[in-house]
Amino acid sequence: MDKMWAGRFSKALDKEADDFNSSIHFDCRMYKQDITGSIVHAMMLAKQGIISENEKEEIINGLSSILEDIENKNLDFDFDAEDIHMFVESELTKRIGDSGKKLHTARSRNDQVALDIRLYLAYECEEIGKLLRKLIEVIRDKAEENQDAIMPGYTHLQRAQPITFAHHLLAYAMMFKRDFERVGDALDRMLCCPIGSCALAGTTYNTDREFEAEKLGFKGISMNSIDGVSDRDFCIELMSCFATVMMHLSRFSEEIILWSSWEFKFVELDDSYTTGSSIMPQKKNPDMAELVRGKTGRVYGDLMALLTTLKGLPLAYNKDMQEDKEAIFDSVDTVKKCLSIFAPMVATMRPIKENMYSAAQKGFINATDLADYLVKKGMPFRTAYKHVGTLVGYCIEQNTVLENLPIEKYKEYSDLFDNDLYNEISLETCVAKRISAGSTGYESVKRQLEYITEFLNK
Ligand code: ARG
Repeated sequence: MDKMWAGRFSKALDKEADDFNSSIHFDCRMYKQDITGSIVHAMMLAKQGIISENEKEEIINGLSSILEDIENKNLDFDFDAEDIHMFVESELTKRIGDSGKKLHTARSRNDQVALDIRLYLAYECEEIGKLLRKLIEVIRDKAEENQDAIMPGYTHLQRAQPITFAHHLLAYAMMFKRDFERVGDALDRMLCCPIGSCALAGTTYNTDREFEAEKLGFKGISMNSIDGVSDRDFCIELMSCFATVMMHLSRFSEEIILWSSWEFKFVELDDSYTTGSSIMPQKKNPDMAELVRGKTGRVYGDLMALLTTLKGLPLAYNKDMQEDKEAIFDSVDTVKKCLSIFAPMVATMRPIKENMYSAAQKGFINATDLADYLVKKGMPFRTAYKHVGTLVGYCIEQNTVLENLPIEKYKEYSDLFDNDLYNEISLETCVAKRISAGSTGYESVKRQLEYITEFLNK
């Protein structure tokens, strides 16, 4: 294919160099955004009297037919083309002749690519937003069903205090809610239209950049044409949002993997989201959760790759910037795939409440509550803490738990102990007594559920 810029060259590009230079294999996914941008550009050119109404009609009809043909699979991408922008333009010229050659007045490919990625990412942000909301909804529903499921809460992966499974799950709902909002914030900043930067310095034509920005759904135009074409902050920002989503998914995955092990057995994953082993017949492996955990590294890598590509790049456009797309596309694809597999995996995951409860019984996780019991009867916290610590040591030695020690034993340590202590340290009481905002207490968890539901209904 003859290059549109071939004029000043006496030799064709080396075949391997041509392939190396070409980006159509991956930027073809932006065909719709490229065509939409061009349609609006033609409208602006005609409105400003830069092309005629007739030429505008021809261009728009030509571009619309290209779009239709691509979507109906009547037109294949020419992978010999340099990129999607060149492909669309040359196809247009093939179809409508000279009017097609006027489309590229008052714009450059540097503007086009900066525009197309923004439009493409804006669409994907919506999709990712929907997937995040779906996952939050699944978590909310699971939490709703498990408000009475008592389990150990951990610090240092050591049993710490009793909590409900609902409370634990809702912590993830909060994280994904923040992720949703973060993507929205990044999207707001990204919706700044670069078209009309005209490679870098602007143009001598009387263009109307605001018109194009508005027609394309942007919030405004980039205020500096050099920045307009050099900026890829929005990719970095979104990739960092996606990396954070993956980090949350990975933490959740790790817990699901632990919970479904024989050592915990707090949950059973549905058969449809687990795999068997080729050699060990007893195995039921949490592959999906492991893959999500694994793919997190890849999304971090995409972010690092682009940060590194941009580091030290002089203004304005440099071909290095073509490397932005594979990184951001991979990160978009990966986060979407992970979110779509994660939601149904969590929805079909079966909590095993008895196992959670018995683990909660074994870890002295009511020791804080027992100390608080003495404090409420007037003992200084440090003294109470010491007594309870000694009692825990005694229980470990005797292979028993605080609930099963006779009252006489307690009395050896303090007269403040009475029969009401057993009720005070029951796991149910420990949970119910937690009344502070955000706590694991039943009322507080109800408020958290409402908070998430309100968010989902917005
Ligand atoms: N394919 C290029 C990219 O993805 C489009 C912009 C090319 N501009 C240029 N002046 N060579 O970055």
